[in-house]
Amino acid sequence: MKSSDIRQSFLDFFGQKEHTVVRSAPVIPAEDPTLLFTNAGMNQFKDVFLDKGSRPYSRAVDTQKCIRASGKHNDLEDVGRDTYHHTFFEMLGNWSFGDYYKKEAIVWAWELLTEVWKLPKERLYATVYTDDDESLGIWEKETDIDSGHIMRFDEKDNFWEMGETGPCGPCSEIHIDLTEDLSGKELVNAGDHRVIELWNLVFIQYNRKVDRSLEPLPKKHVDTGMGFERITAVLQGKGSNYDTDVFRPLFDAITGLTGIGYNATLDGEQDIAMRVIADHARTLTFAITDGAVPSNEGRGYVLRRILRRAVRYAKKLDCNQPVLYRLVGVIADTMGDVFPELRKQQKTVEKIVRSEEESFLVTLDRGIEIFGEIIAALRGSKQTRISGEDAFRLYDTYGFPLDLTRLMALEEGLTIDEEGFDTCMQEQKERARKDRKQKQQIADEQGEWNWFGKRARTIFLGYETLDTEAKVVGVKIAGGQLQLVLDRTPFYAESGGQTGDKGRIEGQQYSVDVVDTQKDGDVIVHVASKVYDRGTGLEVDPAEIEFNGADPVYVRVDKEAREATERNHTATHLLHAALRKVLGEHVQQKGSMVGPDRLRFDFSHFEKVSQHELEAVEAEVNERIREAGELVKHEDVPYEEALEKGALAFFGDKYADRVRVVEVPGVSMELCGGTHVSNVGKIGLFKIINESSIASGIRRIEAISGKAAEELLWGEYQELQQVRLLLKTGGDESVVGRVQELLEERKNLDKQVQDMRLSLLLDRALEQLEQADTVNGCRIFVMKPENSGADTLRNLGHFLQKKIGRGVGLLAGEENGKVTLVGFAGDEAISECGMNAGELVKKAASKVQGGGGGKPGLATAGGKNPAGIPDAIKMFEEVVREKLQ
Ligand code: ALA
Repeated sequence: MKSSDIRQSFLDFFGQKEHTVVRSAPVIPAEDPTLLFTNAGMNQFKDVFLDKGSRPYSRAVDTQKCIRASGKHNDLEDVGRDTYHHTFFEMLGNWSFGDYYKKEAIVWAWELLTEVWKLPKERLYATVYTDDDESLGIWEKETDIDSGHIMRFDEKDNFWEMGETGPCGPCSEIHIDLTEDLSGKELVNAGDHRVIELWNLVFIQYNRKVDRSLEPLPKKHVDTGMGFERITAVLQGKGSNYDTDVFRPLFDAITGLTGIGYNATLDGEQDIAMRVIADHARTLTFAITDGAVPSNEGRGYVLRRILRRAVRYAKKLDCNQPVLYRLVGVIADTMGDVFPELRKQQKTVEKIVRSEEESFLVTLDRGIEIFGEIIAALRGSKQTRISGEDAFRLYDTYGFPLDLTRLMALEEGLTIDEEGFDTCMQEQKERARKDRKQKQQIADEQGEWNWFGKRARTIFLGYETLDTEAKVVGVKIAGGQLQLVLDRTPFYAESGGQTGDKGRIEGQQYSVDVVDTQKDGDVIVHVASKVYDRGTGLEVDPAEIEFNGADPVYVRVDKEAREATERNHTATHLLHAALRKVLGEHVQQKGSMVGPDRLRFDFSHFEKVSQHELEAVEAEVNERIREAGELVKHEDVPYEEALEKGALAFFGDKYADRVRVVEVPGVSMELCGGTHVSNVGKIGLFKIINESSIASGIRRIEAISGKAAEELLWGEYQELQQVRLLLKTGGDESVVGRVQELLEERKNLDKQVQDMRLSLLLDRALEQLEQADTVNGCRIFVMKPENSGADTLRNLGHFLQKKIGRGVGLLAGEENGKVTLVGFAGDEAISECGMNAGELVKKAASKVQGGGGGKPGLATAGGKNPAGIPDAIKMFEEVVREKLQ
């Protein structure tokens, strides 16, 4: 049976038993920042088990993409060393949400395995949790399993938990004995490849709390998981998952790329390497397809570690070029029917993997060399432990993740001082923290709040209005600066990247210029720059004002600045959507700053955004602006519901249970608390002004919109018009063409000037040469042409060298503060007087803070000190005379 048929028959079997076939959730669980990767089929149903969410069905079946490379479920270290662990695998699963329970789960599993797939019953074992007599009874009475094949195990094997907290319960597993003589009973749960677990039936009935206690759930559920690659190996009669048609195309591709065949041995170095590469390529492909990007922290770092591990294994196959990225297409080809996203993202994933591979290959060889030196030194002193400092150096300078160094150490029979490594890491973090702290200290000056009544949450009116009447409820003066809290305000406090509003607060006696608005817990703080006495109109010390909580104040946000900010904020959402459209869905917001003057948007992307792509993004945004869609703001939406509708959340930001969603219908939907234009058309115009890198894999775009964009383009246009006037180019004549012509003309003129100068200099030089001093029949020639650079002097020297015969010369010139010395010696001077221009120039150059050299006939030196030219000449003459005497 082909693997695709096996997958389908699982779905069909449960489909016939009234299970709804659902799609695999992404391997990146966007809605659960506590989980780095989806590690089980049940992840997407966690809310149902915990009674926080529901589905329109009570039975489900699917194949789920899983990654187990970090956290509670981590198989990374086993990969390649055995034949049945993977960092990426598919989990076939069926679920009951408060519907059927143990009996159906067990009976159906048995039916599928033994009646549909016809696995030999004598090879199957069932395990149950220590005291789960109910399951044991069902196995005994409701199936025809050999009762000697039912075994009890404790929490370690038969109590399944999602993570440190969350849904859990006792489970019953089905194992298969692959020994020839059916002698595997002792090997159940013994970590032996001859008897492996196939299917886990979990009876979810508790919630594990942070304090480790078990809270019974309102309903009981079934959650099962079967390793797709394992069942495929069993049904295809293969001893290893890697021998199935799931992996075959990958091995063929690796052989094609490296010329090395796969021999399927368990401990052959190259066979291990091939298994690791095949496994890791799948993990990287699926994770990056679903939006993760290799980086220096969190799940990004897990991916980077996996990739670097694979690159290092590829070295064992003599690969010094990127190869992993070439497996992405193989995976997309073979699995794209089941997971169409693979094909959609293939190009992007290839690019990301390739650029990661390239960047690690830059330091890998040097790191391996350093590693060699480290172990040589250890062997020399008969030690077996790599110091924490050395491991850290490999990490910090050569990009070796600790687990890679550990793996390499293991191969050499060595260990690592991991505590020492952690200490180095902590020290580095501490240094970074101190740096940050020092910068902050200035801002930390504290003052005391003076509250009129109780401190209470400020009511925010700024979505609807820009001015209002309000009361002062709190005053603070810190470092001479006034801060005010009101009972209600239209001022938007800085958050979600949008800067705080500016504006004015007017009391009866005073008025205050607000330059910034910040949040402090649930109150909104207005930060003032200047305070005026309304009677005199003069600026006053805020300490002189008597604030009170009774008199009304009138507050007004700076409308122009706020509206400019809103244009930039909505433009940021359009930009985000356009980037995802043009560059790919891997683009995720990593930060943003939206103010009245400009916007800044940071996002994950693996390479420079090309000019062509920037233009496409800009065009896309402007196109949407011209469509002039109305914005829809959904207030108070349950978080889960918002994500289900497809709203983008800025990853890493904390969101409450209920959120606000800002939507440009058909274009963009984001969780956002900021203020926006009512209609996209109000943005007017959008212009990108810069694109740069701010960290590995993170790009930044700066842009402007509205009037600022118009002014920028208008300014440029006017300048261009002036250039047209100056160049006298007609309306349809190309300015660029004209400028190119002018530059060409200018180059030719420069060349002519040079040539003329040279010929004048030559004439002068020849005249001087006639009158040059002679010592022992050898002429000594020195010349200091004004404003002459290296090119001119070299040409001149070249010419004179041929003329001077028995003689030597030095040309010393200066141009733009740089000194050039050119020395030359005629052929006879070399052969008969032993002159060497190279030596002479080197000596002379020492006087102008420079150096250089050349051949005995002609040599050049540069220098930094024009004031030393007379000394250099003197030195030259002295050396020559000395030689001649
Ligand atoms: N959730 C269970 C597992 O992952 C089925 O093994």
